[in-house]
Amino acid sequence: MKVYFIGAGPGDPELITLKGAKKIAEADIIIYAGSLVNKEVIEKRKKEAEVYNSASMTLDEVIEVMEKGIKKGKLIARVHTGDPSIYGAIREQMDILEEKGIEYEVIPGVSSFLAAAASIKKEFTLPGVSQTIILTRMEGRTPVPEKESIEALAKHRATMCLFLSVHMIQKLVDRLLTSYSPDTPIAVIQKASWKDEKIVMGTLENIADKVEKAEIKKTAQILVGDFLGDKYELSKLYDKNFSHEYRKAKNE
Ligand SMILES: C[S@@+](CC[C@H](N)C(=O)[O-])C[C@H]1O[C@@H](n2cnc3c(N)ncnc32)[C@H](O)[C@@H]1O
Repeated sequence: MKVYFIGAGPGDPELITLKGAKKIAEADIIIYAGSLVNKEVIEKRKKEAEVYNSASMTLDEVIEVMEKGIKKGKLIARVHTGDPSIYGAIREQMDILEEKGIEYEVIPGVSSFLAAAASIKKEFTLPGVSQTIILTRMEGRTPVPEKESIEALAKHRATMCLFLSVHMIQKLVDRLLTSYSPDTPIAVIQKASWKDEKIVMGTLENIADKVEKAEIKKTAQILVGDFLGDKYELSKLYDKNFSHEYRKAKNE
């Protein structure tokens, strides 16, 4: 038997992968990140499955549940929000399992930055605008390496998706303004894909006020960059005068 680290997706229970949902349905033990994972995602579990909410557990307690379960031949689903590889704290769990010789597998999920783009119907990588997406967070109670300061990353003026930072929106905006212009568009999406999702669109100049008025203090994506604007070049991929592996140009 194995431990399966499963990305639960951003909230909408239909946004988990088929593979992830199948493992949850088969699991004998489910440990889920209750502060963010939509409980509907684990609704289709076996009647007798044991359920633990990791929000109130320490790393040692989580590992203990896994280890005892595996010894008894149980299938374990460790359910994380979005995709577990992004701010999921799964590496420390995987390393301990490795040391203990416990088998595990990772099933990816739809991260919240992707759900946020879907909610506002935008494309992160517009030709002639940005071909780079920076996923990051501002330091708060936990630090971020100095080389990845907001000021350093903002210099690229690429598409940026900021996790875990909405409660510090004014400070964040001030730091983004060291490189982005004040009229740069910015979107804040709280609980993307949930029924009570909130969307606030603005510019670096006015977003902090709007976020305060909307009372958004947590569980939000902050998306910044000119990809939110309306100027871009058409893609070469679908250009009738551009040949590629699967299609000849019309003018050749
Ligand atoms: C600990 S991180 C986990 C990220 C997660 N692994 C992912 O891939 O989305 C939690 C942060 O993710 C973002 N987040 C998670 N779910 C969200 C959602 N449905 N809508 C907007 N932001 C979300 C928020 O910035 C939140 O503070």
